[in-house]
Amino acid sequence: MLRLDDKTAVITGGTSGIGLATAQLFLKEGAKVIITGQNPTRLQEAAQKLGNNTTAVLANVVNLADLEQLAQKVKETFGSIDVLFVNAGVAKATPFKEVTEAKFDEEMAINLKGAFFTVQKLEPTIKDGGSVIMTTTCLDQTAMMGESVYSASKAAVRSLARSFSVELLERQIRVNAIAPGPIETPIWSKMAMPQEVMEEAAKQVVGRTPLGRFGKPEEIAKAVLFLASDDSSFMLGEEILVDGGWATL
Ligand SMILES: NC(=O)c1ccc[n+]([C@@H]2O[C@H](COP(=O)([O-])OP(=O)(O)OC[C@H]3O[C@@H](n4cnc5c(N)ncnc54)[C@H](OP(=O)(O)O)[C@@H]3O)[C@@H](O)[C@H]2O)c1
Repeated sequence: MLRLDDKTAVITGGTSGIGLATAQLFLKEGAKVIITGQNPTRLQEAAQKLGNNTTAVLANVVNLADLEQLAQKVKETFGSIDVLFVNAGVAKATPFKEVTEAKFDEEMAINLKGAFFTVQKLEPTIKDGGSVIMTTTCLDQTAMMGESVYSASKAAVRSLARSFSVELLERQIRVNAIAPGPIETPIWSKMAMPQEVMEEAAKQVVGRTPLGRFGKPEEIAKAVLFLASDDSSFMLGEEILVDGGWATL
């Protein structure tokens, strides 16, 4: 018996990194998945990589019409879903004195507004007793230079996991958060830092992490699987840190 036999899941930000690794694990555990992303090329490549039992939907989380279309596609494809992984996000590295209004609004829109309306628009498609998992970060419990907006956006998402748990209690839908530490994914290269700055930042991150390395997306996927499955049936409004000891030690 697989842990997600006959289950259906939507994974936002499923084109790379943590979302893609989670889609791979969910499929291996018997689920059918819908992955989303905003970049058509990466979306198609990911869908090809994942193969059978995968549907790819182009949906930018800052665009409410896209999220409504995604909900419609979920109804057409599965009728309803057991698991929603609210994972799409970006991280920008900017010292707080250099944060412009436009940069602030962009990061907040993707990470916070996007997460909020993903749950609001897809909630009618989630089965009673379903599971929602929201990706936060260990930085919502601590701090890092240049990550003030990112950390604040994710601290707000951590708060949403509590509020949504209360709002969805009558339907027995459990909402929890997964808080990764530094994980080896394309999110770092997307910060578009010069190579030498990136290498120095990576050294500092490894030095700051008690386990002395970046985590792998597969190590986050395993914890997401736990929260998605009945193994976590008595958990709601909680956040699991998977961060190599970053926030705790
Ligand atoms: N890697 C880490 O160290 C780390 C640590 C803590 C938390 N996290 C969080 O983990 C989540 C996944 O990140 P990752 O590390 O796996 O990075 P990633 O490989 O860059 O994946 C980010 C995903 O989010 C999607 N996305 C970004 N903006 C979007 C938008 N406007 N609309 C729809 N989809 C969008 C991307 O889709 P496209 O390919 O279409 O752009 C991609 O699928 C994020 O929420 C991130 O904040 C990561």
